Amino acid sequence: MTYGVILDVDTGIDDAMAIMFAVRHPEIDVRAITCVTGNVGLKQVLANTLSILDVADAPQIPVAAGAQRPLVAAARDASWVHGKDGLGGIGLPASARELSPLHAVELMHRELLAADEPLTIVALAPLTNVALLLRMYPDAAQRIARIVFMGGSASVGNATAVAEFNIWHDPEAAAIVIDSGIPLTMYGLDVFNRVAAEADTIARLADATAPVARTLGGLLGFELTDPGDGTVFTHPLIGDAGAVCALVAPELFTFESRPVQVELAPGFSRGQTMVDRRAYGGEDLVHEPGWTPWPLADVALDVDVPGTLELFFGTLVDTAGAAAS
Ligand code: BDR
Ligand code: CA
Repeated sequence: MTYGVILDVDTGIDDAMAIMFAVRHPEIDVRAITCVTGNVGLKQVLANTLSILDVADAPQIPVAAGAQRPLVAAARDASWVHGKDGLGGIGLPASARELSPLHAVELMHRELLAADEPLTIVALAPLTNVALLLRMYPDAAQRIARIVFMGGSASVGNATAVAEFNIWHDPEAAAIVIDSGIPLTMYGLDVFNRVAAEADTIARLADATAPVARTLGGLLGFELTDPGDGTVFTHPLIGDAGAVCALVAPELFTFESRPVQVELAPGFSRGQTMVDRRAYGGEDLVHEPGWTPWPLADVALDVDVPGTLELFFGTLVDTAGAAAS
């Protein structure tokens, strides 16, 4: 099976790994990459995206600039997680690839209309571009097979105690997407936080000469400094790349179809994804007559970590010859 995919990214250490995985995976046909402000500003996201396509020796894929800020309220970036340049300071050369002259929304729309079959949108960033697409071209929804989004959590947050960064950054956009009626896969922190590379793998990758392997080593080895107490640590998650793994190898994950909503009210819980995990939910009608059921998403709640790492590294590096080849 081949998946026709539009990637929406805010590249980003883990978006970079996701892009390399997607363009190298034999069952994924990346039709376009659209960029949005998120981990870092849009200009840097665009530069990073083009450079990482060079590293992966990817064919020409149209890359377009999208939203420079969230729909309603400005939000801060995540450069403390990704480094000022968004790629952990690994110093990739600037790319000679050219950007599409189209806006991200127009590029997505064009590709959706041009495709023989509905496409899958894999959104690894704040959902601003996807929400704008659905508002500008509501009919485009029929051309979308599924939206797989990295975002949210059924448990802990990261941007705040309860909100995950992509949803927290643009909650209104996330609400538009979740309410869209399009089939949804939510790849949230419940699984995102679990797929981490081993230290010896990272060390071997960092010593490699092959560009993809060496770049992976640099990205996974990035040291973060906690903005609170100044602690330095590594957090070697494959991150967004796991959401792409979930598209091509859903058998590595446990999904549950669950009602999901986004908290939009100001306050501590803004941007939280509320995932209804009750065995039965009809009681809401008792307490709130007129209550309407929440939209459903296939929420990833468990993951085969070794299997996912094998899929990820097996696609990107020569594991037999180790990453040092
Ligand atoms: C998400 O936020 C970003 O920092 C990552 O790229 C990922 O998409 C994790 O919360
Ligand atoms: Ca991202």
